Amino acid sequence: MVIIDGKKVSLELKEELKASVEEYRAATGKVPGLTVIIVGEDPASQVYVRNKAKTCKEIGMYSSVIELPAETSQKELLDTITLLNNDPQIHGILVQQPLPKQIDEFAVTLAIDPAKDVDGFHPENLGRLVMGHLDKCFVSCTPYGILELLSRYNIETRGKHCVVVGRSNIVGKPMANLMLQKLDATNCTVTICHSATKDIPHYTRQADILIAAIGKAGFITSDMVKPGAVVIDVGINRVEDASTKSGYRLRGDVDYEGVSAVASAMTPVPGGVGPMTIAMLLKNTLHSFQRTHAL
Ligand code: GUN
Repeated sequence: MVIIDGKKVSLELKEELKASVEEYRAATGKVPGLTVIIVGEDPASQVYVRNKAKTCKEIGMYSSVIELPAETSQKELLDTITLLNNDPQIHGILVQQPLPKQIDEFAVTLAIDPAKDVDGFHPENLGRLVMGHLDKCFVSCTPYGILELLSRYNIETRGKHCVVVGRSNIVGKPMANLMLQKLDATNCTVTICHSATKDIPHYTRQADILIAAIGKAGFITSDMVKPGAVVIDVGINRVEDASTKSGYRLRGDVDYEGVSAVASAMTPVPGGVGPMTIAMLLKNTLHSFQRTHAL
């Protein structure tokens, strides 16, 4: 069984990105810039946002974090986005989700200039992805990271049956569309399962490539996996664990112990898909910079 090491690949990617940033800085005197907006004080979101800003600095990009109070109005947030849309130093804008109840997430997604939408959440970017114009859009970071892992581990996808469990706009839908693309890289037959699917194991057992993005710890068990399948675990679930300092540990959507005896390759949690997401965010920010400056 091959462990698909997202931590290792993300470090390689960051080195590549760092070299590119340095090259562009030397040539143009400019660097890519990313702003992350966080509204309120969700502890998991604060960790993500801090990591994003830290990683940006590590690779030589400019980064700023705008922290807004939980009671921020939608108008205040949209006004902040407008300022960033018009700021030539900023090539990527990310508004951390989830947002407080008084703010309409879709209105926020629409307000971000699609050319700076490094999350790939804007309908223009998702639409371009569905239509196969991958070179002219931003691909949502988690699916993009999974594609990169499959490619760097030389996992054959052409003609394979890929089953995606989960239909979120952030992961499931873009992931399924990427695997469907008429590209050298994918060309899968794709099935999407979700909470209303009858008999999910019936579908997952047919998967050559199984992608679990459900949000339930240990949901995919070994009896749901075809021997030799490649299993990608997107889940990052906090489960109680009194033996750790924090009182919890991270567990994926896949029962790692059981499934690793059946699969031919799989991503661990942590250290699989998670580290790739930030790396692809930075890659998208670099792409935005390259497009802006016609590099
Ligand atoms: N919340 C959890 N993951 C993400 C992400 O990739 N982007 C944004 N904007 N919010 C998130």
